[in-house]
Amino acid sequence: MILVTGGAGFIGANFVLDWLAAANEPVVNLDALTYAGNMENLASVQGDGRHVFVHGDICDRALIDRLLVEQRPRAIVHFAAESHVDRSIHGPAAFVRTNVEGTFTLLEAARAYWGALDGEARAAFRFLHVSTDEVYGSLGPQDPPFAETKAFEPNSPYSASKAASDHLVRAWHHTYGLPVLTTNCSNNYGPYQFPEKLIPLVIANALAGKPLPIYGDGMNVRDWLYVGDHCAAIREVLARGRLGETYNVGGWNEMPNIDIVRTICALLDELRPDPAGPHERLITYVQDRPGHDRRYAIDARKIERELGWRPAETFASGIRKTVAWYLANQDWVGHVQSGAYREWIDANYAARGARP
Ligand code: NAD
Ligand code: DAU
Repeated sequence: MILVTGGAGFIGANFVLDWLAAANEPVVNLDALTYAGNMENLASVQGDGRHVFVHGDICDRALIDRLLVEQRPRAIVHFAAESHVDRSIHGPAAFVRTNVEGTFTLLEAARAYWGALDGEARAAFRFLHVSTDEVYGSLGPQDPPFAETKAFEPNSPYSASKAASDHLVRAWHHTYGLPVLTTNCSNNYGPYQFPEKLIPLVIANALAGKPLPIYGDGMNVRDWLYVGDHCAAIREVLARGRLGETYNVGGWNEMPNIDIVRTICALLDELRPDPAGPHERLITYVQDRPGHDRRYAIDARKIERELGWRPAETFASGIRKTVAWYLANQDWVGHVQSGAYREWIDANYAARGARP
């Protein structure tokens, strides 16, 4: 079996569902259920004996030691993190705690467990760390996309904490020989994404007739990857990645934010027309994110060359599936838009001159 951390969040939950469908190997899922963790994401595997959920914190060393000894996983796939850049600007402490201290705690527990394994089990063990392209910093319009050799230049508290965790993972391999793998992926989108992130926020606000907040001039560029393609990439890296290596994962799909928002508006005009007029009328330019990285782009040739992974979805196919999923799962959206979500929306957008 494998141990997944953060498997009640957006990518982690997609990974657990995908894993159980594709690999048919049991999963122990350790998640602290912060505001971003949601058991509803795992409703379809409730009662499935192959999925064991453990409510706990990756900073809790005693709990992790106990889990490893009791469950004896052959691999750890580490998603748990504080993941939202805007929240890291409002409150960086939680990011240092979970992303740095939590990863450190997990590495130390993994090192002790792996060190006590024998022969085959020791050789087969893997620690896969899920990270982000944001560790590389920001690109100018003509710069080549991020390769794995690009120096780290993180610019937000979130990306700095993820970069720190990547460095720890690297060092635990170099110094202690821990069999690690790291993936650095671009912006994911798809089912179960918490509506604080651009794509689900825009879908939810557009359906409610609320403003669609665009930071700055809307020309910041991200590379977008459908979450199912990210899950498939992680499976490949876990199965055949070279130890100690990092693999960039991306969709070859750079787009400015304003184009993302216009695409969603056009899809909603087609799938759920609003009698009040085209959804684009709701676009509202608001104050920019402090230190807002201008452009990310991923050179994904290494994972393609070494492991044969390529994204299956185009942006056109992935965003259509995603909008359709949110339309079909309005109850899920309604449940996560709790009191705590409202407080975040007020804190983040009131000072920007818009209150979606
Ligand atoms: P998310 O915020 O949706 O989910 C994070 C999960 O981690 C939640 O279920 C939360 O409860 C859990 N968690 C948080 N702190 C914890 C702790 N101390 N102990 C145990 N569990 C804890 O995040 P996501 O978007 O699914 O991202 C997952 C991982 O992928 C993160 O490491 C993130 O940095 C990375 N990543 C995300 C993206 C993206 O576009 N979302 C892209 C590249 C990499
Ligand atoms: O690049 C990978 C990263 O992508 C992950 O590591 C992070 O966990 C994930 O949250 C994401 O970070 P971003 O900051 O790129 O995602 P977000 O959805 O917050 O914003 C995407 C872009 O849209 C960014 O340029 C900021 C902009 N934006 C965002 C929000 C929430 C807006 O213009 N308006 C908004 O209301």
